[in-house]
Amino acid sequence: VKIINVGSLNIDYVYTLDHLARPGETIQASTLSRLPGGKGLNQSVALARAGASVAHAGAVGSDGRWLVELLREHAIETHLIREVAEPTGHAIIEVDRSGQNSIVLFGGANQCIPAAQMSSVIESCTPGDVLLTQNEVNDIGGLISKASELGIRVCLNAAPFDAGLRDLPLQQLDHLFINEIEGAGLSGRNTPAEILETLTRQLPRTRIVLTLGERGSRCRLGDEEVAVPASPVEVVDTTAAGDCYIGYYLAALTEGRPVRSCMEIASRAAAWCVGQRGAAPSIPWRQDI
Ligand code: RIB
Repeated sequence: VKIINVGSLNIDYVYTLDHLARPGETIQASTLSRLPGGKGLNQSVALARAGASVAHAGAVGSDGRWLVELLREHAIETHLIREVAEPTGHAIIEVDRSGQNSIVLFGGANQCIPAAQMSSVIESCTPGDVLLTQNEVNDIGGLISKASELGIRVCLNAAPFDAGLRDLPLQQLDHLFINEIEGAGLSGRNTPAEILETLTRQLPRTRIVLTLGERGSRCRLGDEEVAVPASPVEVVDTTAAGDCYIGYYLAALTEGRPVRSCMEIASRAAAWCVGQRGAAPSIPWRQDI
């Protein structure tokens, strides 16, 4: 089984600060790092480090060639990545002393994937393949519809949340990955139990995976629910923990493991990730966990 990931490639500017800047406040950062990131890239790196066979599709500007090179170093197929005239997407990430973050995104090339390229992505898939995407690239609605009509298993990470996600053909998804914010935005409910109950009723054929940080993760399909606790860890930086979880979960799933085992492996990987700084650089290799 091949996993095709249609996703963002970002340059992350990571600032470490005492606390996240408040409205109207100016504060000094103690460090600045320029690192590879983007939910798409992070998830491809996690898939590859977990041992899956991955093709990444997306777009960069000429300033993002080093991101494509990084994917190649992980043996990720990159022939579905285009170089476009826009600058590469970037993120401004503040990380406070407790490891929490806030992120400002500039989509750039990630929002300029040509329609013809999306068609090539779908043509490159065969039924049974897994197509993963996130909400940082353009036209994911069309991608979900066309791919699922062809019998491709489509998985969506509903991050970052915006109201447009509610209008997507979510009922065609095989897996929907959400955190509490995304779950609340999609369901209009607040507690994990209510979020899962509401989304399960709306999307009866979709497995919903809800990540809850230090409270672990829960997964629901119809009446079947699995809950797994988080692995204990000292938090350094939570950036990309969700991406890491998704990559490890799907890599384990395509190995044929049961859902509980996928969730346990993914939780261990995510815990390792929050113990390190940065996005892609903080994702473990399989032997680390
Ligand atoms: O999930 C973390 C990622 O979100 C960062 O790498 C940043 O680029 C944004 O896409």
